[in-house]
Amino acid sequence: MMQTLIKSGRIVTAVDDYTADILIEDETVSMIGRLIDVEADRVIDASGRLVIPGGIDPHTHMELPFGGTQSSDDFFTGTRAAAFGGTTTIIDFAVQTKGESMTAGVDAWHKKAEGKTCIDYGFHLITTEFEDGDEKEMYSLMDEGITSFKLFMAYPGVFLADDATIFRAMSAAGKRGGLICMHAENGIVINEIIKRFLADGRTAPKYHALTRPTIAEAEGVHRAIAIAEMAESPVYIVHLSCTDALNQVRQARDRGIPAFAETCPQYLFHSIDDYGDGWDGAKYVMTPPLREKHNCAELWKGLKMDDLQVISTDHCPFCMKEQKELGKDDFSKIPNGAPGVENRMSLIYNGGVVENRISLNRFVELTSTAAAKMFGLFPRKGTIAVGSDADIVIFDPEKEHTFGVENEHMNVDYSSYEGWKMKGKVETVLSRGKVVIENGEHVGKQGDGQFLKRGGCVKI
Ligand code: URP
Ligand code: ZN
Ligand code: ZN
Repeated sequence: MMQTLIKSGRIVTAVDDYTADILIEDETVSMIGRLIDVEADRVIDASGRLVIPGGIDPHTHMELPFGGTQSSDDFFTGTRAAAFGGTTTIIDFAVQTKGESMTAGVDAWHKKAEGKTCIDYGFHLITTEFEDGDEKEMYSLMDEGITSFKLFMAYPGVFLADDATIFRAMSAAGKRGGLICMHAENGIVINEIIKRFLADGRTAPKYHALTRPTIAEAEGVHRAIAIAEMAESPVYIVHLSCTDALNQVRQARDRGIPAFAETCPQYLFHSIDDYGDGWDGAKYVMTPPLREKHNCAELWKGLKMDDLQVISTDHCPFCMKEQKELGKDDFSKIPNGAPGVENRMSLIYNGGVVENRISLNRFVELTSTAAAKMFGLFPRKGTIAVGSDADIVIFDPEKEHTFGVENEHMNVDYSSYEGWKMKGKVETVLSRGKVVIENGEHVGKQGDGQFLKRGGCVKI
């Protein structure tokens, strides 16, 4: 048995903040206490450091086919980058393409990920079709640990599910502790607006944002919550980007409806101004798009007040060269998505804790614990406790570093945060007891990560 002792760190979970030693035996935390007196195989001095649960990013897209190409990180490069950034679990989105079974979609994602990941991983399933009688297949996937399903109100012809499909899927999921994650935007109206812009010759990247108004997102959120209420099911809104949409979640929660939502760093730190007038704006072509600056403060408030429960990344990178270039003359052909899995923990520590918007405990809750509870991984993941997986980040709260494509490990030719100076840096990362990041190096290997069979959702 391998014993690792982390000494004298400041352990911060969603609820606690104290200094102690942590003994890890093989993959699991076995003891927490002051001055643990054990001759461990390995001792890590964490004095002056924060010791926090490994980050959980419940929204990534590795190798996602999109717009005639596929996202540029695979399960190796993407999960290694995640580890560098202090994330030790991802939940990626498998895809049921139209005409294929849900099971075939999950099988395809197992093939992509197996033996490749550097950290543990689970899958949601993007569900494009759901008929009466499909409950059986949904439940057998749930028995295999796929307990959440993403449906789209956007992207007609590709992913969009109509309201009847959404209602059927929500009714089925809600009966068995499953969770529907909703991409909430009125994609049908948006497509009409896009046609008008293109007919007017408005083709630059910034028009991606101008064709997707906040009201299209707010309408989607309102409808998703209303359908969930009728289906007697909880609902989780993904990548919520603006105040108008947030207000829909707030109103529902104030009525006691089990509506939950995540936002992403890009909506907290960037704004519509980042598109500029030129081609460079393609870096930020993602859906929903970046919004007017005033939305950022309101989202931070939503995070503080628990109207938003989770911060994910929606990591979906495409290189500017050859990939984003597919939409050089037509913004609607630019593949949607941006990199971020490596940046999330430092960004939220800076924008949240250093800038005094949220407490350290809330930082941990938003980046790890809440996702574990929402998606059936708690208490194995999302906390530091005896019996939990030893997914642990040793974080230097004072160390400064600079984001930029040269220092980052995502397989993409730009950084969304080029030159941004950060206070607080991930120093050492353990994934199930094994050190995978130390001294700025990845010391783990491809295949270290395991598939996580998740349990029922929403214990929050
Ligand atoms: O632009 C985005 N968000 N790309 C990934 C697909 C999605 O809708 O999450
Ligand atoms: Zn989406
Ligand atoms: Zn996404």
